[in-house]
Amino acid sequence: STPELRELLLGRIKDVQDYPKPGVVFKDITPLLADPKAFAALTEALVELAVRYGATKIVGLEARGFILAAPVAVQAGIGFIPVRKAGKLPGATLAQSYELEYGTAEIEVHAEDLSDGDRVMVIDDVLATGGTAEASLELIRRAGAEVAGVAVLMELSFLPGREKLAPALGDAPLDAL
Ligand code: PRP
Repeated sequence: STPELRELLLGRIKDVQDYPKPGVVFKDITPLLADPKAFAALTEALVELAVRYGATKIVGLEARGFILAAPVAVQAGIGFIPVRKAGKLPGATLAQSYELEYGTAEIEVHAEDLSDGDRVMVIDDVLATGGTAEASLELIRRAGAEVAGVAVLMELSFLPGREKLAPALGDAPLDAL
C-alpha cells in the first residue's frame, strides 16, 4: 500500500481502550466504513491484490471480514464465500476448530462453495494471533481448493500472527494494508 493510502486508512481507524475487556485496545473500523472515500480506496487496493493473486473466489471471515470482502468480490467479478462461526450455515459444511487464549472456536464453510481449481483469496480486518486465518486456510485446502493469498486491513505486528500463519500459507502471500 502507498503511504497516502496508509495515512487515509489509519486516520479512520479508532483505538478504543479497554474494549472488549480491560487491557485490550480495540481497533474500531466503523469510521472507515462510514467514509465512502476511505472505504472505496480500501476496496480498490484489495481488488488490486485479488488481481495480483489471480483469485477466482473471495472468502470473507465473519464478521468484519464480510464487510470488507463483499465489495471486493463484486468489483472483481468473482464469487463471495462466507466463512462463518459454527452453526450458522444451513447446508453441508466443513468445520475447523482452532485455539483461543482460553478454549477453542470453530469456523465453517459450505462444502459445495469451494472445489479443486479454485484459487481463493482470504480477506479479514485484523490479523492478531493468526488462529482464525490459519483455520480458514485449512478449510480451503480441505475443500480441495488452492490458497491464492491472504489480505488484511491491519496486522497487529506485536503478535506473532504472521509467523503462525507462515506454514499454512506456504508460498502464498500475506498482505497487510
Ligand atoms: C476478530 C477479527 C479476526 C480475528 C483475528 O474477529 O475480526 O477475524 O478476530 O484474531 P486472530 O488472528 O487472533 O484469530 P472476532 O473473533 O472478534 O469476530 P467478529 O468479527 O465476528 O466479532
